[in-house]
Parts: sequence; C-alpha cells; structure tokens
Amino acid sequence: MTGVGEDDELDGLTAATGAGLIADWVYGWAVSREAGRPVAVRGGFRIEIGRPGHVRRYVLGSLDRDIIRDLVRRIDTPGVWIKAIGPEAEFRALLSPAWELAGSGHLMTTSLRRAVVRVPDGYSVQTRVERNRIVVQVLTGAGEVAAFGQTGLAGAIAVADHIGTEEAHRRRGLGGVVMGSLANAALDQGARKGVLAATAEGKALYLTLGWTFRGCLSGAWIPLPEQEQNATATG
Ligand SMILES: CC(C)(COP(=O)(O)OP(=O)(O)OC[C@H]1O[C@@H](n2cnc3c(N)ncnc32)[C@H](O)[C@@H]1OP(=O)(O)O)[C@@H](O)C(=O)NCCC(=O)NCCS
Repeated sequence: MTGVGEDDELDGLTAATGAGLIADWVYGWAVSREAGRPVAVRGGFRIEIGRPGHVRRYVLGSLDRDIIRDLVRRIDTPGVWIKAIGPEAEFRALLSPAWELAGSGHLMTTSLRRAVVRVPDGYSVQTRVERNRIVVQVLTGAGEVAAFGQTGLAGAIAVADHIGTEEAHRRRGLGGVVMGSLANAALDQGARKGVLAATAEGKALYLTLGWTFRGCLSGAWIPLPEQEQNATATG
C-alpha cells in the first residue's frame, strides 16, 4: 500500500514532528496493552511490557543514528523491541546482527468525528468501556466474534489498537463498524484526536474512513531463542 506521494510525506516529516507523533501514540498504546507508563528517554520513550516475546520497547521519533546505535550496542535481552519513525532500509543499516527487522507499520492520525455506524444484517455490536480502555466486538447471530478492536485513552487522544475482522467476515463493512463504534465511544469519553499504527491492510481501511498517513514506523527486535519461541507460541 505504498501510495504515490508517501515518500514526499516522509521527506517532510521532521524529527520534531516525529517526536510529537510518537508522544501522541505511546500513552494510549500503553493503556491499550496494559503496559507500564511510557518513560521519556533520549529520542522517545521506553515502555515496560513484561511478556516473554515483548519484554520492553523503545519508541523513537526519528532514525537518529547515535541514539539507535547506542541502544543496539547496549541491549542484548531477547524480546526487546525498537520502533522508530523512518524507512526500513535506513533503519536496517543501524542494526547489529543480533537484531531482526520485524516489519514496518504506518502511523496515522485523524480528528475524531461522530460516525453513523451501519451494522450489516446478521451482526450486532458490543461496546464496553473499562476504565480508560474501550473494547468493541462485532458478533454473529451465533455469538461468535466476527470483528474486534480496542482503544486506549490518554486525555484527548484515543489510540486504536488490535483491530481485526475474521477472514470469513471481511469486506462486509465490519472494520468500519468497529472503527466507528470506537470513535463514538472515544468522543463520549472526551477524546478528540485518533492515532494508530496500521498494517498495510489496516491502512487501506483507515484511508477510506478519513485517516491521514503520517509516516512509516520501522520495527526490530532481538528474537527469543528457538525453544522459548515455541513455548511462547503454544503458551
Ligand atoms: C484490515 C481489516 C480489519 C479490514 O476489515 P474489513 O472488515 O474487511 O473492512 P471493511 O469491510 O470495513 O472495509 C471497508 C473498506 O476499506 C477498504 N479495505 C478494507 N480492507 C482492505 C484491503 N485488504 N485492501 C484494500 N482495501 C481494503 C475498502 O475500501 C473497503 O471497502 P470495499 O470492501 O467496499 O472495497 C481486515 O482486513 C483484517 O483484519 N486484516 C488482518 C489484520 C489487520 O491487518 N488488522 C489491522 C491492524 S492495523
């Protein structure tokens, strides 16, 4: 989904803009994932997550060579991640062999607007607000989850996360139902701006809903030893 004009936007993304975007994203993301509160570090934030394959992540507003090379040199713990705004090819050049690229995301933002949510026949929507987290599920008539999503709230910012539609139910408008329901509930909670990091498929959906692509988010991690990866996959 690399659209025409995307590179122009990346060229125009200054480190200051990147720092602002990251700051907007991390607090709500941490709420959504029930992770520790983001701690400011040089170039961005550190977030404690505490899961075997995702112990901790650093989220950086730009591909600052000194900062990334310093992290790469100092860190050797499997399950630590770095996410940084900037193109993957440039990010790769800053990594040591211990680190593995983990795909890139698309940071997007929107001004939240009340959505008219049209639920296709045969489905129903459940929206729950759990403290500062909103959880939406679209259910089939048999009560199975067909689509889902959640939002972490951080003041005026709502970070959409874990959005998905089960394969058999895709392209029926359910992704739009999830996003519209999340946006309406977030507005009810006082949020005004939406931020998220999208997959390529997610980006295609969010563009149709009026979201704006703001920059690529490259990711890398130190992989777990193979036996631990298997245990994580089955556990
Ligand atoms: C991305 C995802 C949530 C979309 O869910 P969905 O229920 O199929 O989305 P909708 O039916 O509401 O799509 C609405 C519109 O968005 C666009 N769109 C959605 N998915 C698209 C895709 N894979 N490719 C191109 N356009 C897409 C289309 O314009 C679509 O309208 P159309 O079907 O009339 O062409 C779903 O494909 C998915 O779960 N993918 C795997 C997990 C994932 O990547 N989640 C997003 C994380 S950020």
